[in-house]
Amino acid sequence: MDVEKLPNWPAVRAMIESDAGARNPKRVARKIAGLLGLPYIGSGAHRVALDLGSAILKVALGKRGLRENQRESGLFFSLPPRQRVHLATCLAAGPGWALFEKLIPMSYQSGYREHRLRMQEIRNEIKRLGIYDISSPRNWGLREGWGPVVLDYSLYTSPPPAATGNSASSLPSGRPGSPANKLAGKYCNPEYSPPIYCYQTNRKECSGT
Ligand SMILES: Nc1ncnc2c1ncn2[C@@H]1O[C@H](COP(=O)(O)OP(=O)(O)O)[C@@H](O)[C@H]1O
Ligand SMILES: [Mg+2]
Repeated sequence: MDVEKLPNWPAVRAMIESDAGARNPKRVARKIAGLLGLPYIGSGAHRVALDLGSAILKVALGKRGLRENQRESGLFFSLPPRQRVHLATCLAAGPGWALFEKLIPMSYQSGYREHRLRMQEIRNEIKRLGIYDISSPRNWGLREGWGPVVLDYSLYTSPPPAATGNSASSLPSGRPGSPANKLAGKYCNPEYSPPIYCYQTNRKECSGT
């Protein structure tokens, strides 16, 4: 799946850059789903989640969503496996989009009661990252056969991961000191097998294998 080769991706990019979503996020979320022809799963203030079957495509609604996708995928790829497991797996990301494993979204009505103690333990384990806005179940999901994981971790206070052109496993090397908001490259998770166009500053394409 090559996100940027989806029909109408240039129109979606233009919409993100126009920042229309800052004024009317729900309308822009529906519009992006329609343009890409993908089923709408949910949306927040800055991003829309679309259904790709086994994965979720998060598309920015505007400039802030673009930055949040970068920060979220950048954080994921900068972490060691023992911390990554508590976050929705990022499979790949590029400007305006990020691909994640599909989770079962949680709410106070569904999942929270059974899992709240485990959620508290996880919050302690990842405390140093300073992810905020994760006390509510809204930003958690359930990984089948596993348990709760953080589904929206775009807001955090830990230092932004340095932007690099390297793939997931070696993200912290590369060009040290480049601010995350200048991140130019696509990330690719080696665990993701379908061919995907992955943003890398040095390499144009990677198969993700
Ligand atoms: N990995 C996922 N699996 C299933 N649903 C998801 C996933 N990520 C996000 N969603 C759904 O999309 C909504 C918006 O995503 P979110 O990351 O919270 O965006 P925002 O940063 O704009 O709040 C979530 O509330 C949830 O319902
Ligand atoms: Mg959210």
